[in-house]
Amino acid sequence: AGQQLRYDGQTVVVTGAGGGLGKAYALFFASRGANIVVNDLGGSFKGEGGGSSAADKVVNEIKAAGGKAVANYNSVEDGDKIIDTAIEAFGRIDVLINNAGILRDISFKNMKDQDWDLIMKVHVVGAYKCARAAFPHFRKQKYGRVINTASAAGLFGSFGQTNYSAAKLAQVGFTESLAKEGLKYNILCNTIAPIAASRMTATVMPPEVLENLKPEWVVPLVAVLTHQSSEETGSIFEVGGGHIAKIRWERSKGALLRADDTFTPGALLKKWENVSDFSEPSYPTGPANFMELLEDAQQLPPNPPSENIGLKDKVVLV
Ligand code: NAI
Repeated sequence: AGQQLRYDGQTVVVTGAGGGLGKAYALFFASRGANIVVNDLGGSFKGEGGGSSAADKVVNEIKAAGGKAVANYNSVEDGDKIIDTAIEAFGRIDVLINNAGILRDISFKNMKDQDWDLIMKVHVVGAYKCARAAFPHFRKQKYGRVINTASAAGLFGSFGQTNYSAAKLAQVGFTESLAKEGLKYNILCNTIAPIAASRMTATVMPPEVLENLKPEWVVPLVAVLTHQSSEETGSIFEVGGGHIAKIRWERSKGALLRADDTFTPGALLKKWENVSDFSEPSYPTGPANFMELLEDAQQLPPNPPSENIGLKDKVVLV
């Protein structure tokens, strides 16, 4: 038998661990020696109601298998209380998995402020509050692992999910910056966009599809990223159905215009093809070096105006 990736003596906080993906993470880390804070508000998938039974059940399951776990019933909006539970029960926190989430799907036309605000509170404020409370501990011990949970809806858009998409892509920006701030302290932060069968997807996917989207199949990626041997940070992963892939930005060749009085909309139209020319892509981890580009552009001849060939009388657009 090979050697297991272990988390002995570490404390893992999993938010929204009363079911779905969070429960799968909690059971796994407990089985590999970690102390678990099983956080769950116990509400509906729309963010209504609450109760202690969702978290309690998972804690009982972990304990029955010989593991160590405590429950926390706070909303992630009160992330400091969740982290307090970890410190009080186990004296430390090593891994934070921001997983709690709800849906308020509705077409944009019918979106109410409440639908928007609640999604922002749980996903954006929630991830912030938990990470903010964990961060001083991570810094002090020069060790921390954070997983933030995005979604394909955030990366690619999804009908009826403008609120959720905004909140989910926010995880990417949050994670990128946190990864930069944490690097020096061995605080590694990554974003995952999972797909898995849960109560969240139960109503939108047929059973035979759901059968091949086991939450347990997302666990290995999270396990690798949060292990002490990991060096991965600031990355985005798509994970589901046994497929694990990285997602990154791609920059086109781009149009380069000389910045003078010929820098007009018409001149841009003339070079529009270059804006979306991905034949020589680059994969940026930061903004383009515009100072360098500006210098290159100064070497160019004046920009040509664009010719609109579609019109009967040829019009030159500037
Ligand atoms: P789930 O509904 O089974 O689990 C989410 C858990 O979070 C629930 O147990 C819920 O009670 C808890 N929760 C909700 N609001 C909370 C709050 N304010 N404080 C504490 N706990 C709270 O859903 P699932 O599918 O396991 O989702 C986990 C994460 O993965 C979510 O962030 C979700 O947006 C994300 N995700 C899931 C996808 C999927 O295919 N299942 C797709 C893309 C993203």
